[in-house]
Amino acid sequence: MNQPTLMVANWKMHKTVDQSRAYVRELLRRRQGETIPSITEVICPTVVALWGVARILAESEVAVGAQNVDVGREGAHTGAVSPYLLHEAGAHYAIVGHSERRQLYGEDDELVAAKAVECVNAQLIPVVCVGESREEREAGATDGVIARQVSAVMSVWPDGASADVVFAYEPIWAIGTGLVADAAEAGRVARLIRDTVHASQPQRQDSVRVLYGGSVTRENIAQFAQESLLSGALVGGASLDVGHWMDLIRVWKEVRS
Ligand code: 13P
Repeated sequence: MNQPTLMVANWKMHKTVDQSRAYVRELLRRRQGETIPSITEVICPTVVALWGVARILAESEVAVGAQNVDVGREGAHTGAVSPYLLHEAGAHYAIVGHSERRQLYGEDDELVAAKAVECVNAQLIPVVCVGESREEREAGATDGVIARQVSAVMSVWPDGASADVVFAYEPIWAIGTGLVADAAEAGRVARLIRDTVHASQPQRQDSVRVLYGGSVTRENIAQFAQESLLSGALVGGASLDVGHWMDLIRVWKEVRS
């Protein structure tokens, strides 16, 4: 399995607009002369900083993503931001169904699926997050939860859409805790995700990419890069420092080359 790597930085609710712009300027400065073939980097700043960040990255190979989208093109939805607007602002990716959105904002499988479809329609590649809680893992419910979350999305995925199918396996107990999933176990779940996509949309199985997320650092990322069923990482805390972020990319590249 040698699909192009996708490394996604999820800054969550961190960094001011100025700090966000300074980070990506510094990223471009440090990347000068360094080509990173076959790795797509996606920076997901806060929605307020997205436009400014996208302008700085516009001529570069680094892509921009949103951390969330709302459903719909326009309408009386106070405070909502449509994927069409995010695309216009320079985003090419969007994280959808992050566990923090599911837990803190009550997003269920149906809403997450609708958001993923809206992204596809708006020409954003959704990075759909799935993952089990600690209680679900301990109860042996991991596979059922993952299959349910993936099926909900694939059952409504638009037939003719050519958009990439990207899932991020983020076990909830590993997010921001310093605990990481065992890489072999992450690979096993990646296989389950692919099989679930296959069951629903066989023609898409080969183009599915699965990322791992949850306490990824430059110290532990090599084990995930060694797992051939994983196509990259979704990184929170360790993406906030530009040097650390670049180290993550370098380690992945070294392991895969
Ligand atoms: P951490 O890398 O900070 O654990 O966050 C993971 C995450 O939620 C990325 O979306």
